[in-house]
Amino acid sequence: MSVSPAHHAHAHHLPTYQPPADFVGRAAVSGMAAYQALCQQAAEDYEGFWAGQARRLLSWHKPFSQVLDASHAPFYQWFADGTLNASFNCLDRQVERGLGDKTALIFEADDGVVTRITYAQLLAKTCQIANAMKSLGISKGDRVVIYIAMSIDGIAAMQACARIGAVHSVVFGGFSAQSLRDRIHDTGAKLVITADHQLRGGKQLPLKDIVDEALALGGCEAVTQVLVVRRSGAPVPMTDGRDRWLAELADSQPTVCEPEWVGAEHPLFLLYTSGSTGKPKGVQHSTGGYLLHAVLTSQWVFDLKDDDVFWCTADIGWITGHTYIAYGPLALGATQLVFEGVPTYPDAGRFWQNIARHRVSVFYTAPTAIRSLIKAAETDPAVDPSHYDLSSLRLLGSVGEPINPAAWQWYYDHIGGGRCPIVDTFWQTETGGHLITPLPGATPMVPGSCTLPLPGIEAAVVDEQGHEVPWGQDGLLVVKKPWPAMIRTIWGDPERFKKSYYPDSLGGRLYLAGDGAVRDPQTGYFTITGRTDDVLNVSGHRMGTMEIESALVSCSELVAEAAVVARPDDTTGEAICAFVVLKHARPAGDEAKRIAKILRDHVAREIGPIAKPKDIRFGDNLPKTRSGKIMRRLLRAIARGEAVTQDISTLENPAILDQLAENH
Ligand code: WT7
Repeated sequence: MSVSPAHHAHAHHLPTYQPPADFVGRAAVSGMAAYQALCQQAAEDYEGFWAGQARRLLSWHKPFSQVLDASHAPFYQWFADGTLNASFNCLDRQVERGLGDKTALIFEADDGVVTRITYAQLLAKTCQIANAMKSLGISKGDRVVIYIAMSIDGIAAMQACARIGAVHSVVFGGFSAQSLRDRIHDTGAKLVITADHQLRGGKQLPLKDIVDEALALGGCEAVTQVLVVRRSGAPVPMTDGRDRWLAELADSQPTVCEPEWVGAEHPLFLLYTSGSTGKPKGVQHSTGGYLLHAVLTSQWVFDLKDDDVFWCTADIGWITGHTYIAYGPLALGATQLVFEGVPTYPDAGRFWQNIARHRVSVFYTAPTAIRSLIKAAETDPAVDPSHYDLSSLRLLGSVGEPINPAAWQWYYDHIGGGRCPIVDTFWQTETGGHLITPLPGATPMVPGSCTLPLPGIEAAVVDEQGHEVPWGQDGLLVVKKPWPAMIRTIWGDPERFKKSYYPDSLGGRLYLAGDGAVRDPQTGYFTITGRTDDVLNVSGHRMGTMEIESALVSCSELVAEAAVVARPDDTTGEAICAFVVLKHARPAGDEAKRIAKILRDHVAREIGPIAKPKDIRFGDNLPKTRSGKIMRRLLRAIARGEAVTQDISTLENPAILDQLAENH
């Protein structure tokens, strides 16, 4: 692949990388002309385009006759009178195609022990768990919370829910008891599936204990059963009549279970994500439209072929692990690596070692991991990727946050060996799957740009009134037409759904992503400029500033007031910076350090370790307008260590700026 010197279209004059010649012609979408033809088809007959994909890629029990129903916009429905089952599409279908003996999942444990499971075995296991849940009275529409680490059992549990029409809500194993309780409460789940422990980086961390604690916090009375996967084998308390070992119940169940055929709009899952207010939102996804996009993008963007080994390093607790581990690749019959551990154990060469060991061909990870492994290789040459055989790789992907051009270049040169296209995939929990991304056999790549929307996705950049801005100008990223995998609603809060994603200020018909974007003046390529709301992104983990502020303020014996902003960080993308006013005098020196630690631990307990502020600064007050509004833009400047050059004429208490700037 070569850098074409003729191509200097990007605003920052970065080089353009052409898709490698051996991709063009072999890829699912070959060449820009093919991409443009698909876009054209979607533009001319939008519903026909999506209906065609839905018939091509999914097995329907009852075919749909209606494609898009916009009569309750923005509560759009897709393929609503069709019926299907997601687990049938992921598992039975592969067995029927003769792929029963093909490896579905290669599980590499934290300690390096490898377990393989074929499609036929995964189907049998899924059916046993489904039957076990049925024996507990779980049925269609019931919510099941899954609080478990990366595991074959976790994926099978998700598939088992889909099989019986139960709605899963996976909670990332790093969330605290309080966060878990809030999610269990909001879903009204009847059943929790968990494990005794999780093993990460050589450490044994609790899961079951945290479930016990969450249930004891109250508000989870709908939960009557807890199923526990044995992972560590170490003892955990079991509550009689409520808790059971999953294996004891499931292993004796029949290995067949008739799928529950559900309407395409039946909720497949709820997944909680952060918004601008304190309370995380339960993003509700559909069965048909969601699964279509998962399988379509696994084919178009990851180009998954029969002999590929796909590795997505995300956790099943996040949307990436749903769409690109638990559903999309399985629905295509791909082989995947599932990794329990962390990138730095036993050393920071683990990712490269895993790729070499399992001959991974398509690798999908987050910029934050890339940046931290660049650093690790600089400090410890023994874990430099050049020591590993990465020749099996043919395609690389990036997700979760903007990838800075330097990290892109390193990934391209040192991991991809200059051979592998990089798909920088922009999307969100709410979008269900990729929205804006290169196609590996078609799109010329520019480091740091997610390039162009997928065919059938009408993305645009608009001003505050919803009018499209010229290319080259910053604005709000929107999607002009509904698409099959889009969020259906926020569980239990349709008003918040409307306000968050289809605000009246934009006319009520544009999906508002919450990100800023700019298009290249020549190519129209999109570059994401970051969130425009009070959401921050630390190591690819999405959190609300208000959520962290509420956690700080809930430490009511100490904290009077708190404001949280993000500042750029070389490794984690953004870092959390908290400004805190205590109930007693502003601490200094060791006392400030001691209290900062108490507050960090408090946030970890309230939300989880991922939400711990990196910087905590104490002030006698916060910068406020005369009407009492906290001036966050000033805090952002202070957090970055910048001099405040903005207009401060509306500021009530200008002296506070110097105090906050000096003290940290
Ligand atoms: C937010 C969504 C997408 C699955 C994982 C995160 C940011 C995501 C990119 C990218 C620039 C990106 C956005 C987005 N983001 N991918 N390729 N380039 N920014 O899902 O937790 O819902 O977060 O992540 O800010 O809004 P999420």
